[in-house]
Amino acid sequence: MCGIVGYVGNQPAAPILIEGLTRLEYRGYDSAGIAVMGPNGIRIVKRAGRVRELEAAVPKRFGGKTGIGHTRWATHGGPTDDNAHPHADAASKVCVVHNGIIDNASTLRDLLSTDGVQLRSETDTEVIAHLIARSTAATLEDAVLEALQSIEGTYGLAVIHVDFPGRILVARHGSPLILGVGDKEMFVASDVAALVRHTSQVVHLDDGDLATVTAAGFQTFTTDRRTTHKSPTSIEVSAHEYDADGYAHFMHKEIMEQPAAAERILRGRLDDRFGTAHLGGLNLDAREIRSVKRVKILGCGSAYYVGQLGASLIEEVARIPAEAEASSEFRYRNPVIESDTLYVAVSQSGETADTLLAVQEVKRKGGRVIGLINVVGSAIARECDGGLYLHAGPEVAVASTKALTNMALGFALLALQLGRVRDLSVSDGRRLIAGLRRIPADLEQILATEEELAVVAGSLADAESLFFVGRVRGFPVAREGAQKFKEISYRHAEAYQTGELKHGPLALISERVPTVAIVPSDELTDRNVAAMHEIEARKGPLVAVTHAEADLGSVAAVRVDVPKNEPELDSILLIVALQLLAYHAAVKLGHDVDKPRNLAKSVTVE
Ligand code: AGP
Repeated sequence: MCGIVGYVGNQPAAPILIEGLTRLEYRGYDSAGIAVMGPNGIRIVKRAGRVRELEAAVPKRFGGKTGIGHTRWATHGGPTDDNAHPHADAASKVCVVHNGIIDNASTLRDLLSTDGVQLRSETDTEVIAHLIARSTAATLEDAVLEALQSIEGTYGLAVIHVDFPGRILVARHGSPLILGVGDKEMFVASDVAALVRHTSQVVHLDDGDLATVTAAGFQTFTTDRRTTHKSPTSIEVSAHEYDADGYAHFMHKEIMEQPAAAERILRGRLDDRFGTAHLGGLNLDAREIRSVKRVKILGCGSAYYVGQLGASLIEEVARIPAEAEASSEFRYRNPVIESDTLYVAVSQSGETADTLLAVQEVKRKGGRVIGLINVVGSAIARECDGGLYLHAGPEVAVASTKALTNMALGFALLALQLGRVRDLSVSDGRRLIAGLRRIPADLEQILATEEELAVVAGSLADAESLFFVGRVRGFPVAREGAQKFKEISYRHAEAYQTGELKHGPLALISERVPTVAIVPSDELTDRNVAAMHEIEARKGPLVAVTHAEADLGSVAAVRVDVPKNEPELDSILLIVALQLLAYHAAVKLGHDVDKPRNLAKSVTVE
């Protein structure tokens, strides 16, 4: 959420900053700006709107080899030129870009105003620039530390100061920051996406770290001014993974990458001999697994819905009571943390503030947390006691797809391993392994039906309102289907348990309100068919996402058939068909699929 980029070296900073912001735009895209320090001081250009509008506003000759930039997702103050970062003090001596939230901003704004400081924006960030500018400390490091002492909240912060040319001061507390090490040049970013074109050598800052960054290198230190020593590590992602590769949208590319991503998460983790999975990173031995009495899954948004799917998998396969909870709610209700409960955090970005805070709540109370995380080395991954990486590769589109599929596969692996230490038979274990091995090919088969799905999507795109319904295993599928549809098509889409429809929402069914019904071929098919008849009797148009094996009787639904796998694994595939429905509906409606309105990729604020 919001992107930070910084450069100090021997090249003109502006083009590097703009390119970096373009790479980070998925993190927030309501306004953007850069500040570059040249011989005549700091020059700032910032604009409401997209990075391309900022780029058009930056003069051709915009000298200076040290600079910072930001792309914003508004928290305090609307998306205007004034509220865009960077923010400066009145004399433009100090310039800052900031991710996170300053909780005591309104108190600090009042104090500054009382002292005669004219605030030019409605943001929480601006106070930081004024506080640093007012410091009488002899060094930039001390001036920033002094300002940070007045601040309550979270920050990923980059600062430039005219009295300290050729230097960027950065600080991290609750919002990611990474340094990129080049040859006589250094980069700063909130996300490796902005760095991969320049260097593979990065330094991940931890909470509480500050760093002085110059063209010659970097020096890290702590808030009590102790020097620390951090060595760069190599990043494994290559630059082309952040390119759209000829696809019209990243979301489309990421949907299409799912068979390969599925192969990656399964590779080396399936054990045919014992019919189990090997997840060494869980850091749980068999005795510890046997003592688990309950599993609690924590995630937000789509990760929460896939967490519900994971809970039903764990309960069914491992016979351990399991449930998922939205991590945005979890810590506010002072949850009871039990030592025999295994907590599982699930997140693509590994940065989601609500999930990170939920993990910290569990750990503070002595609970054990494992993570299913996509981004290696991310804050949540580092906070967990163990876990498995999802290996979905970088995900750029705001609407998550391949990472969710790999989360579901991660839960299947976890359920298998937990189950085989408990009561799952070796033959059932092997049956599930065979099913998992078929998943990449099944995914290919679904993706091959894209044209038909696009036609169905076209018929749903014009509906003002839709229902997505599913029963038991199909309910998380329906929830995720509705989420994806509303996120990018801006249509009202509501998920319901199929059996609950008749207890109220059926009143809304009409020829203008279609229902997408999740109808796997299983022991509940008849029940689902009965519900579809009830919808049909109220003239509700129906799309059934189902299996060729399912007998839908006389229901006149438009059928979307996906390949049948093992019953426990079918939901993973049904979701993928819904991704394509949402994608093509949004394309038909002409929406900016990768950057849906009001949203951002990583939600690093509460
Ligand atoms: C998914 O399409 C959404 N953009 C959103 O619900 C997302 O899944 C949620 O914000 C959690 O993100 P995370 O997986 O990075 O924690």
